[in-house]
Amino acid sequence: MSKLTYFSGIQPTGNLHLGNYLGAIKQWVQMQSDPDCDLLFCIVDLHAITVPQDPEILRRKNRQVAALYIACGLDPKRVKIFIQSENPDHAYLAWIFSCMVPMGWMERMTQYKDKSKKQGERTSVGLFNYPILMACDFMLYDADLVPVGDDQKQHLELAADIGEKFNNIYGETFKIAKIYNQKETSRIMSLQNPSSKMSKSDIDPSGTINLLDSTDAIEKNVRRAVTDSGKDIIYSPQKPAIANLLAIYSGFSGISISELEKKYKGVNYGDFKNDLAKLLVKELSDIQDKYQKIINKPEYLDRILDEGRDFAISISSKKIALVKEKIGLSRSHS
Ligand code: TYM
Repeated sequence: MSKLTYFSGIQPTGNLHLGNYLGAIKQWVQMQSDPDCDLLFCIVDLHAITVPQDPEILRRKNRQVAALYIACGLDPKRVKIFIQSENPDHAYLAWIFSCMVPMGWMERMTQYKDKSKKQGERTSVGLFNYPILMACDFMLYDADLVPVGDDQKQHLELAADIGEKFNNIYGETFKIAKIYNQKETSRIMSLQNPSSKMSKSDIDPSGTINLLDSTDAIEKNVRRAVTDSGKDIIYSPQKPAIANLLAIYSGFSGISISELEKKYKGVNYGDFKNDLAKLLVKELSDIQDKYQKIINKPEYLDRILDEGRDFAISISSKKIALVKEKIGLSRSHS
């Protein structure tokens, strides 16, 4: 049986938060224990520039996200980590797909609709094309599984439609990847508003806990987190705020939600939050210690990113050659 390929990525914008960790990175780390797979993790800076970025900050963020991937537990000996813009094949395939995808498919993308509503006249064509570039990211490597949070589901469905369309016209060329996530942590909500997802762009900083937050900030935000009426600590749709805190607790402790419900039966919200704050401070300070060591070793990080880039190009360049041949982007032999 041939090896499976897993692919995922994160935009180097804002600060990575608990949602990014529990919805994405933690699954990646677990996938490493499967010996029969190739794992590629990308820092998707071409996606980041769909909205304006400060060049100096973007350059720094590319490095920081790479360091955080490793600090969170990705083993560079086991996985490939690379920066999207260092492999030109992603943008190349995106142009080809852009020429095949009907506008109507793109106009249905809910993330585009939400973001373009906020950005108004400033909305870029790149933001509209964003999901096409995302499809290219993993289709170039014949990924089988794409571990991402729930908010990316529609983009994965679009990618499947693009792959099927291409395969129908030109013959079997692309694998159709499946989304992979764990139900409870696939959508971590804001600590201030359990009906909206934890997000890098939230203007209220108390709704989010970032992976590099100080002990003070972590404790303060957990203490301030909204709770539901009643006093039972149970995982229920009627208790979205407590369910969210339980999902975070379970994600970081490895204790199942039903075990946590038993452990906290009869305990008040305040004590439960204190325990959660302690757990998060401990787990995040481990990540932060590792992060500091890695970010201070620029040559080590460069070596990993160079190797990741070279590996990525060695695979994607073959796919691009095949696609060009199939669609006629080559000279005739006669
Ligand atoms: P991005 O950078 O917004 O988020 C990175 C990952 O974190 C997940 N995530 C969450 N999961 C649970 N709860 C939350 N509140 C939460 N917020 C974010 C996201 O689902 C994602 O997995 N389009 C992607 C980046 C991308 C990509 C790719 C991913 C570009 N190309 C190819 C996979 C494969 C994005 O914007 O992620």
